[in-house]
Amino acid sequence: METAEIRRRFLTFFESQGHTVVPSAPLPAIEDPNLLFINAGMVQFVPYFTGQATPPWDRATSVQKCIRTPDIEEVGKTSRHGTFFQMNGNFSFGDYFKEQAIKHAWNLSTRPVSDGGFGLDPERIWATVYLDDEESIDIWHRIIGLPMDRIVRRGKADNMWSMGIPGPCGPCSELFYDRGPAFGRDGGPEVDEDRYLEFWNLVFMEWLRGEGSTKTDYEILGDLPKKNIDTGMGLERMAVLLQGVDNMYEIDQIRPLIDKTAELTGKRYGVSTSQEAAQSHPDDVRFRVVADHVRSSLMLIGDGVVPSNEGRGYVLRRIMRRAIRAIRLLGYDKPAMPELFPVARDLMSSSYPELESDFERISSYAYAEEESFLKTLKHGTSILDSAVAETKKSGGRTLAGNKAFELHDTYGFPIDLTLEMASEQGLSVDEEGFRTLMSEQRARAKADAQARKTGHVDMSVYWKMLEEHGPSNWLAYETLDTESKVLSILSQGTSVPVATAGQIVEVVLDSTPFYAESGGQHADAGILRGPNVSAEVLDVQRPVKGLVVHKVRVLEGELALSEGVQAHVDPEWRLGARQAHSGTHVVHAALREVLGPSALQSGSFNRPGYLRLDFSWRGKLSDETKSEVEEVSNLAIRRDLPVTVDYMTMPEAKQRGAIALFGETYDETVRVVEIGGPWSSELCGGTHVGHSSQIGSVVVTGESSVGSGQRRVEAVTGIEAYQYLARERDLVNQIASELGAQRGDITERIGALLKRAKDAEREVAQMRQQQMGAKASEYAHQARQIGAVKVAAITAPDGTKGGDARQLATQIRSALPDTEPGVAAVAATNGGKASLVVTTNEAARGRHLSAQGLVKAALSGRGGGNDDTAQGGGVPAEQAPALLEAIVAEIGR
Ligand code: ALA
Repeated sequence: METAEIRRRFLTFFESQGHTVVPSAPLPAIEDPNLLFINAGMVQFVPYFTGQATPPWDRATSVQKCIRTPDIEEVGKTSRHGTFFQMNGNFSFGDYFKEQAIKHAWNLSTRPVSDGGFGLDPERIWATVYLDDEESIDIWHRIIGLPMDRIVRRGKADNMWSMGIPGPCGPCSELFYDRGPAFGRDGGPEVDEDRYLEFWNLVFMEWLRGEGSTKTDYEILGDLPKKNIDTGMGLERMAVLLQGVDNMYEIDQIRPLIDKTAELTGKRYGVSTSQEAAQSHPDDVRFRVVADHVRSSLMLIGDGVVPSNEGRGYVLRRIMRRAIRAIRLLGYDKPAMPELFPVARDLMSSSYPELESDFERISSYAYAEEESFLKTLKHGTSILDSAVAETKKSGGRTLAGNKAFELHDTYGFPIDLTLEMASEQGLSVDEEGFRTLMSEQRARAKADAQARKTGHVDMSVYWKMLEEHGPSNWLAYETLDTESKVLSILSQGTSVPVATAGQIVEVVLDSTPFYAESGGQHADAGILRGPNVSAEVLDVQRPVKGLVVHKVRVLEGELALSEGVQAHVDPEWRLGARQAHSGTHVVHAALREVLGPSALQSGSFNRPGYLRLDFSWRGKLSDETKSEVEEVSNLAIRRDLPVTVDYMTMPEAKQRGAIALFGETYDETVRVVEIGGPWSSELCGGTHVGHSSQIGSVVVTGESSVGSGQRRVEAVTGIEAYQYLARERDLVNQIASELGAQRGDITERIGALLKRAKDAEREVAQMRQQQMGAKASEYAHQARQIGAVKVAAITAPDGTKGGDARQLATQIRSALPDTEPGVAAVAATNGGKASLVVTTNEAARGRHLSAQGLVKAALSGRGGGNDDTAQGGGVPAEQAPALLEAIVAEIGR
């Protein structure tokens, strides 16, 4: 059965059981700062489980895109680990519980294929339950009829499920399928999880968990408001079972990538199966790594992640680099992504059509990343080669650990690549030394992270607030002033009853006009004022959906719980913010008009007077293009286009051509902001001007690169745009007045000045040459006769530079008769130090007089050069005459 069919059957089954089909959330888990990627089907429903939001339905079902990377090293070695996978789930929010969940899973799994089910053999299904969950054992045994010897009790590590961070959790019951003795030993899941493949996890979500560092070390904080169901059926695992293949890499959605890789590399796949993990042929592991990682990269970029050096972008970069390296180790050294990405797209686009329509953008990131990594490999390879050569020259057979570390740290060379490449050249690597350096570095990074307190953000306190007070009444679209009540005050994460002057605290109000930072728009600034207090609003965030939190500094008096305050947004600030945000949309539309629709925004930031916008584009924008973008923007402003805000469903918005930003999660009803729609149509929650002319103007101030395939434009808007231009005008006036020229003439004048300066420099240089020439023949005439050798030993004027001294020496030598041996020695003093240049003519060298030998004799062995010309120095200036005497003495010896 094809993967797409498994997916369809699952959704159809649960829809027929009263579940609403909910689309997958995008992979980046932007709602939760503690999670990089969605790693389970339930993540988008967390607020419903915790009770912080009311679910629109009691039952839901979805097929969620997931990324898990903690086991990335295991990819390809076992049948169970993939970085990207799809999780089919059914969810009950306070509706049915254990019995119904178990029945549903059993029914769909064992229902015959001809009847819409998966047709698994009931005799081969095993179930696990949490230690003392007698209720589930009872359901499995009595109601389903599963024999007791196929029901296994397991502990917290296996059968208590949470997202790995504080939040909802609960005991679970997992379904395993016995793939038969060919896949491993008898004895159930406790003995062999390759033979007994887990395919469905039923979580009885009933508790709230706290902090903890491992799978088992956390506390249960209490009950959730209701008992819920969260299940996850691994789509790829079910495909493994129903397609009768060995492992997840061989299912219909992945295997063609392996075949394409085999075609490219000319290597054969399938030397070993995954059960022999330890003995798995390294090439087979590489095939699987390529296939899994290419698919994951496609899905990640599709959801708006771009390669970078931190956070989500780094995870993507790491995955991509592992794939690129793996195919290189299979012997393919050309760019492989242009071959593989289209294959991955064709495999996935029937479930995710946007991969098709957005492929140009997606693939351009992937190809640029591969290009840059191949360069990295090239640089690193030459470093490695010279390190190998050095090691061999000194007779060593082991590459030093610090070299391997440098390659890793500076060039992103994974250690196994270094190992492999060194061994190709007959060397081993000091792996222990490498690992010591790595762990030292990790320790430093950890200490840094602790110092910066970038660790875990405790969200539970916000959840609790939301539970207690409900969502904030958010009035940013309606008004700039509200009469509000102080509901909570947090000082460093702890609730406090009052805050006094000077303190910085977080405040929750019952209603607020403040815009919380989102969608690239900076938070509003303003003030809270009450009979006994005034406090400046420094920042406004929405840490969990629905809860607006103001960070304030108390200026005077006391801010106290339950007190009434007037919340007042600074109207000037808000006007600037609206101009900048609408300006961002205008610049985005202008970019797309000038460069074409693939210049899509990937991120933005705006605050009063300033905006920046990152977009996908390869290569620098020319000055003309920049001017054109600026002109199109300002023409749009001048046309005074209406700015409209409409609410509609997502399909309606899509039909309208509204641009949704990748990786954003949108509610069922979306807000569409248009400027002269359809010229600019975007999904956006920001605050905007009413007409484009209110933006004032847009002045592009910069354009730069922010990573491969990513450019950034920066611009100023509103009054700042005027101020920016006024400053430029003042500067031009100042330059004109310095030059004593009309403004219109200044470029010509500067050009003329530069030319004159260059001419003058050239003239000075010529004169110096002539002077030196004249001096040189004078010096040559004064040369002393030492034996058969004519020696001109002179001290150049103080301040003579090294280059000039050298030239003087050469010129003196030319002025000496070339029929007899001649030596010119010039001592120069400069900045309190003396230096020495010696030149010899051919006749002198014929008599074994070497310039280098003479310099070394004068400077006690120091100095460099050759027989013809040599120099040295660094001794105190007073020694200059002595240096010359030493030369003369040496020649006279
Ligand atoms: N949330 C559960 C899991 O991911 C179903 O296994």
